[in-house]
Amino acid sequence: MILLSTLFQNLNLEDWCSDTTNLIVATLVISAITWYTWLFFLKPKAQSPPLPPGPPGLPIFGNLLSLDPELHTYFAGLARTHGPIFKLWLGSKLAIVVTSPSMARHVLKDNDAVFANRDVPAAARAGFYGGSDIVWNPYGPEWRMLRKVCVLKMLSATTLDSLYHIRRNEVSKMVRHLQSRVGSPVNVGEQAFLTVMNVIMSMMWGGSVEGAERETMGAEFREAVAEMSALLGKPNLSDFFPGLARFDLQGVEKQMQAVVLRFDRIFEKVIGERLKMEAEGKGNDSKDFLQFLLNLKEEGDSKTTLSITHVKALLMDMLVGGSDTSSNTVEFAMAEIMHKPEVMKRVQDELEGVVGKDNMVEESHLHKLPYLLAVMKETLRLHPTVPLLVPHCPSEATSTGGYTIPKGSRVFVNVWAIHRDPSIWEKPLEFDPERFLDAKWDFSGNDFSYFPFGSGRRICVGIPMAERSVLYFLATLVHMFNWTVPEGEKLDISEKFGITLKKKTPLVAIPTPRLSNPDLYQ
Ligand code: HEM
Ligand SMILES: *[C@@H]1O[C@H](CO)[C@@H](O)[C@H](O)[C@H]1NC(C)=O
Ligand SMILES: *[C@@H]1O[C@H](CO)[C@@H](O)[C@H](O)[C@H]1NC(C)=O
Ligand SMILES: *[C@@H]1O[C@H](CO)[C@@H](O)[C@H](O)[C@H]1NC(C)=O
Repeated sequence: MILLSTLFQNLNLEDWCSDTTNLIVATLVISAITWYTWLFFLKPKAQSPPLPPGPPGLPIFGNLLSLDPELHTYFAGLARTHGPIFKLWLGSKLAIVVTSPSMARHVLKDNDAVFANRDVPAAARAGFYGGSDIVWNPYGPEWRMLRKVCVLKMLSATTLDSLYHIRRNEVSKMVRHLQSRVGSPVNVGEQAFLTVMNVIMSMMWGGSVEGAERETMGAEFREAVAEMSALLGKPNLSDFFPGLARFDLQGVEKQMQAVVLRFDRIFEKVIGERLKMEAEGKGNDSKDFLQFLLNLKEEGDSKTTLSITHVKALLMDMLVGGSDTSSNTVEFAMAEIMHKPEVMKRVQDELEGVVGKDNMVEESHLHKLPYLLAVMKETLRLHPTVPLLVPHCPSEATSTGGYTIPKGSRVFVNVWAIHRDPSIWEKPLEFDPERFLDAKWDFSGNDFSYFPFGSGRRICVGIPMAERSVLYFLATLVHMFNWTVPEGEKLDISEKFGITLKKKTPLVAIPTPRLSNPDLYQ
């Protein structure tokens, strides 16, 4: 029982209900048998190299009890003891963590096709329509079809260019809102989130939220996305003891379903309206993603069969994959440059030179702002917003560095730790955009010292969109306003783990207008 209660404490179990105890103990025994069976079958054959080293674990639970919820720092610590490839037993599940450029290359380049699969956590299955989206789909024809639609059509540079008016409109709204809050504290991440969210929603189905609704619905969405990210990053007993899945021990099944429902209601509504219009013969020639997907579904050429579930799952990918990743990056960048007035000054000077004091920033300015780009790169080095990538899962065993990575294990690539490795980076903990000025590193994932968007087949599909949005928002925030920390508050840059990394405490800052022409703020 002590063991059990430690377990629950460790995993933050609430609402523990004692009359299920017997059931659970029984199931744990069954799980133990499963575990040892697994262990037996996973044991590499005589000739193949051994499993990587790792911290000792307990029977049944493996290393689950000692998991620190801040997985990225915890894994970095273990790598210092056990080396660049180590293993952990999460209940009956074997996790392999890699923490060096050469190991990352093994997974993401040399054996890219083998590792292009996902090990889908229960939370993801519950949250993404059974995993029929891009992020969680196994490597195969369905994933390839969805990804092609996304990369070639929805998120291509041409499409993004043609939708610039949407981003411009939302950024102006943000500026107007900030202008109305001049002199009082503003939650910077929330503003960035609202703006990204509105941009994504407008691109998807032409709708965005305004006025009073902007605040309430935005806040609700942000909470929902944050909750999803937390649920996805949280070790789930159901994943590690398949026998226990149906009990949903952590009692958050309802929570996840409620989150999904909030999105699903909106999806149902916009898709329903669109289909109704079509049925009434009022063809809708809007150029948004939804219409594009619905047309594709109608056309249904022989190779692509897109269902309504796919459409919804793709919309979910865009909303969840694109929103807080980008807005958290803007928030970290703002916090870092406010912390370093000389960096802030340099960014503002660069903007003044290129944009001028009588103009708003336009996206066409962005390619002339190398220092700003260096700020974004340095922000994503220190705070890669997907710190362990999305877990990969090999479809067959491979070996590297004298160790075996067995088929079906859950592989984490600790890009966060590689980005802070003192053998690669000089003064790794210091925020210094200067190091990115020589354009040696980019977002393509070709260099395994720096790959905030991943690398290979599963690299982020949203890079062009992320780059535009983050740079554009950031440039606007610092060109249009000066920012100060409220009296008596301290700027804090610490992080909180989730499948997306976020600031532990929100960045709250006071804007004052920088440009003299008041029309620019209307
Ligand atoms: C600063 C912003 C962003 C960062 C740091 C980021 C990072 C990442 C990373 C690390 C992965 C996983 C790569 C892997 O599995 O190895 C990923 C996957 C993905 N991202 Fe992003 N991302 C960002 C923005 C976006 C945006 C704006 C979108 C879409 C609008 C997006 C959509 C996706 C999708 C759909 C996947 C799954 C790809 C697949 O599994 O095939 N991301 N992203
Ligand atoms: C754990 O998995 C169950 C399904 O087995 C799911 O309903 C629940 O939301 C998951 N919990 C967390 C914390 O991810
Ligand atoms: C298409 O539908 C959207 C909302 O469903 C609406 O905002 C837009 O005006 C429609 N476009 C046309 C051309 O009917
Ligand atoms: C903005 O801040 C800079 C540096 O702190 C200062 O020199 C400048 O006067 C400020 N501009 C306005 C309009 O307050």
